[in-house]
Amino acid sequence: MISLETKLPGLDLKNPIMPASGCFGFGREFSELYDLNKLGAVVIKAATLNPRYGNQTPRVAETAAGMLNSIGLQNPGVETICSEELPFLSQFKTPVIANVAGSTIEEYVAVAKRLDESGLIQALELNISCPNVKEGGVQFGKDPVLAAEVTAQVKETVALPVYVKLSPNTADIVQMAKAVEAGGADGLSMINTLTGMQIDLSSKKPLLANQTGGLSGPAIKPVAIRMVYEVRQHSGLPIIGMGGISAAEDVLEFLIAGASAVAVGTANIHDPFACVNIIDRLPQLLEKYGFQNVEEAIGGGNRNEANVSRS
Ligand SMILES: Cc1cc2nc3c(=O)[nH]c(=O)nc-3n(C[C@H](O)[C@H](O)[C@H](O)COP(=O)(O)O)c2cc1C
Repeated sequence: MISLETKLPGLDLKNPIMPASGCFGFGREFSELYDLNKLGAVVIKAATLNPRYGNQTPRVAETAAGMLNSIGLQNPGVETICSEELPFLSQFKTPVIANVAGSTIEEYVAVAKRLDESGLIQALELNISCPNVKEGGVQFGKDPVLAAEVTAQVKETVALPVYVKLSPNTADIVQMAKAVEAGGADGLSMINTLTGMQIDLSSKKPLLANQTGGLSGPAIKPVAIRMVYEVRQHSGLPIIGMGGISAAEDVLEFLIAGASAVAVGTANIHDPFACVNIIDRLPQLLEKYGFQNVEEAIGGGNRNEANVSRS
């Protein structure tokens, strides 16, 4: 029997599959389709201090191999999330990771503190990488000093493990990973979306009201795999990998590149059963490629490389 269990700081996962932030809401709609107990974990939509209505429409567009979005962190605010959404999710035996966003370090700290105090989540994911808000997200995700500082201040305030979600929109992802590691991060989530644009031919203007949006889906998978692999060589932090996963084969690639677990984003929008289909197929796929369990597959690529250089 192939074991899908995997351990990360604060998270004992029955399998390494979780829906990515923003692509699963707070789980209510999905809970009508399947039992959320099947998931390794759930990552909720970003929480900010106050409710946010998000950006103007149009704010999503389909592209040849993925989608562009500029939702702008729409959410009901941390208080409503703690009083109405988290109690619903806590009925399942599935760890909940809360995604935290803010415009200032103080806002990140306040939101993280409120979520920690709720006692209803198992880990925090700091979204320092949202490309779709004017102030906050982008700067934190590009500036290693700011990224380390926000990580350190949240870590000082909360008891929960803190995963920092890195942006691919940076010249040096390894430098960002090292910065948040120095700031005390317990783990990394990577990657968020890549900034992109689509032109509307009839108006001859950018299609999204926000002009640019975040590209996600199959188009970004090779970028994500490369970044996970590179960061794995330079940081000891466990990685939750994401970007374009829609099949068990994609998951195995991420594990071999060095991720300890993965998140499935845009695929849930095309196929709400994407996560459970992947979970069902993963044991068979691990066996096909000679792995006894998930733990053995993690970093498999690096281990093979080490074996080659030793021989
Ligand atoms: C519609 C949409 C909303 C998203 N909202 C968030 C969010 O609130 N917080 C966050 O950290 N990432 C958010 N993301 C990014 C995803 O969590 C994920 O990192 C990214 O989409 C790459 O994975 P994928 O290619 O599997 O979608 C969002 C992505 C999409 C498509």
